[in-house]
Amino acid sequence: MEPFAAVDVIRAKRDGERLSAEQIEWVVDAYTRGVVAEEQMAALAMAIFLNGMDSGETARWTGAMIDSGERLSLHVARPTVDKHSTGGVGDKITLPLAPLVAACGAAVPQLSGRGLGHTGGTLDKLESIPGWRAELSAEEIGRQLAEVGAVVCAATPTLAPADRKLYALRDVTSTVESVPLIASSIMSKKIAEGSGALVLDVKVGSGAFMKTIRQARSLARALVGIGAAHGVATTALLTDMSTPLGSAVGNAVEVAEAVEVLKGGGPADVVELTLALAREMLTLAGLSHVDPAEVLASGEAYETWCRMIRAQGGDPDAELPKPAHVHVVEAPESGVLTRLDAYAVGVAAWRLGAGRARKEDPVQLAAGVRCLAKPGDRVERGQPLLELHTDTPEAVPAALEALSGSYDLTERHNPPRDEGIVLDLFRG
Ligand code: URA
Repeated sequence: MEPFAAVDVIRAKRDGERLSAEQIEWVVDAYTRGVVAEEQMAALAMAIFLNGMDSGETARWTGAMIDSGERLSLHVARPTVDKHSTGGVGDKITLPLAPLVAACGAAVPQLSGRGLGHTGGTLDKLESIPGWRAELSAEEIGRQLAEVGAVVCAATPTLAPADRKLYALRDVTSTVESVPLIASSIMSKKIAEGSGALVLDVKVGSGAFMKTIRQARSLARALVGIGAAHGVATTALLTDMSTPLGSAVGNAVEVAEAVEVLKGGGPADVVELTLALAREMLTLAGLSHVDPAEVLASGEAYETWCRMIRAQGGDPDAELPKPAHVHVVEAPESGVLTRLDAYAVGVAAWRLGAGRARKEDPVQLAAGVRCLAKPGDRVERGQPLLELHTDTPEAVPAALEALSGSYDLTERHNPPRDEGIVLDLFRG
């Protein structure tokens, strides 16, 4: 005999009531067991979307989703700390960050996802490295963490299965963009992964989930609050996603850019954000005396990257896939590039084949966009502005359509105040 009826829980939230801990624990568990039907959870998700959940309800909801599966127990001597990004265009930061923080002395268990829509997925990017394997068992994750200090792999199916089911339902019922649902979804997976501390990169701007700083602050507060309620030290950084991060957007092109950073080069914004996130992770791990900039410059982070890739069957020295076709977009006039829209570039890369429309679609490893100028750069008429990479040249017109109106070139230019990429910070 079930202790509640789904219809009563839905009615309570529909009428703006607070759900009790018992109601929340039951409804999430019963949904995972198939006792609460999809249409009932769809109605509840919409009631939550419209009426919200307070911080106590959200923490309970997260706990119930963690309890729907297994929690990894990581037995490593080093302090564990992970990073999660809410998703952005050209966001390859995990690739240099995980080995860097490991080279600084922490252990980084990074269970990642694949891309859907205009933001790419870390696993899709890493799969452009010949031989690299995303699926690891819990034992392999533990061993690699102890031996290398960093592992980036696919989430195991037993990790927060309630979230997997609910996320797919939210996707088709227009209930994704709810702060308590997004925050509990992200944190349930990250807490179940077993890391002792967590740094969240909450993206703000056209290429992000959160388009305004107000929405992003509200999500950051909710994420940090859930971490505190579950005893996981959590810090959230709000970072700019109005323009793509770095120059490369796609899969293999992003890996190549991450390797440049690990070798001491790479675009300034990627280096800046990698170091900012590394500093926060090291602070939470009790390693604030280690300077990640020095470790990056020493080459140790690159060595850890090579070991991390080899441990998962990849060849860090192998040539990355090259596109069959490259289309160059030239600057139509001379001027300073004052805007290059992240969302438009993300959609263009996706249409070129770098991303997928449905979960089961394959991705093209060599597809993507290279941004040859960044906002603030001066370009001359006819100078290459963007490079479109694809194996399917028939995709180019749709990518160009996505890019139409996506940038501004202006002669009279007041340089913007350089605010840096980190816009705000919340500590738990
Ligand atoms: N990412 C997640 O993991 N869950 C959400 O709900 C939104 C983004």
